[in-house]
Amino acid sequence: MQTILVLNSKGGCGKTTLATNLASLFAAGGQKTVLMDYDPQGSCLRWRSLRSEDLPAIQVIDATRPPHGLTRTWQLSVPPQTERLIIDAPAGVSGGTLQEMLRRTDIIVIPVVPSPLDIHATSDFIRHLLLVGKVRKLGIHLGVVANRVRRHTPLYEPLQRFLVTVDIPFLTSLSDSDYYIRAAERGQGIFELSDDEALVEREQWLPLVRWLACPEEPLRQVAGTPQLTVVSGGRT
Ligand SMILES: Nc1ncnc2c1ncn2[C@@H]1O[C@H](COP(=O)(O)OP(=O)(O)OP(=O)(O)O)[C@@H](O)[C@H]1O
Ligand SMILES: [Mg+2]
Repeated sequence: MQTILVLNSKGGCGKTTLATNLASLFAAGGQKTVLMDYDPQGSCLRWRSLRSEDLPAIQVIDATRPPHGLTRTWQLSVPPQTERLIIDAPAGVSGGTLQEMLRRTDIIVIPVVPSPLDIHATSDFIRHLLLVGKVRKLGIHLGVVANRVRRHTPLYEPLQRFLVTVDIPFLTSLSDSDYYIRAAERGQGIFELSDDEALVEREQWLPLVRWLACPEEPLRQVAGTPQLTVVSGGRT
């Protein structure tokens, strides 16, 4: 099973959007996929409630409610044969909850919107993950995704320079697009819209999807293959 944690301390940067789109992409590819919702707002649960039963199944586990009569381990256990576990983190997560998520994570995807404050805070958060979260020692791969980008912007350059120094890939830029909102309203991801919709947006996911298949490889070797293949991997 591969566990992907979508994480940033900043709110509203697209964690739930990335988590639900990843889950629907893997489920559409025939993989047994589970979403774990750590957000007290229950955004993934709400998204799941809008999803048609005709679409590929995605189980959502609510990690926020007290585990009435259950142990925490039992509450957070995923069904056997799960191939992908996607964890949607809440904004501002830290301390024991962050450690609990990190302990089971293979890959962290960090969305960041084009705002100077968010970009600065994201660099600080990545330092925190490296120094306090000890993600390298845990064998966790990190990657960053620009989200809600409207046009080419030099705003990300300081973050990109910082990422080079800590050897973390800047994976792709996702447009600010109504297709994400349209898909979310139906409990879908953009890959489940009709074939002629969101073509540019889907293309922008390719570097991220390829990297998730081989996160240990340098990005320049992973990028450039014009095919969307979803490969299982990670801890078993
Ligand atoms: N690429 C995008 N294009 C258009 N809208 C987007 C995009 N990404 C996210 N949004 C919208 O931005 C808002 C915030 O996104 P989302 O809920 O995914 O962020 P979040 O990081 O999960 O927020 P929170 O910290 O509150 O959990 C939502 O209304 C979502 O539909
Ligand atoms: Mg969210």
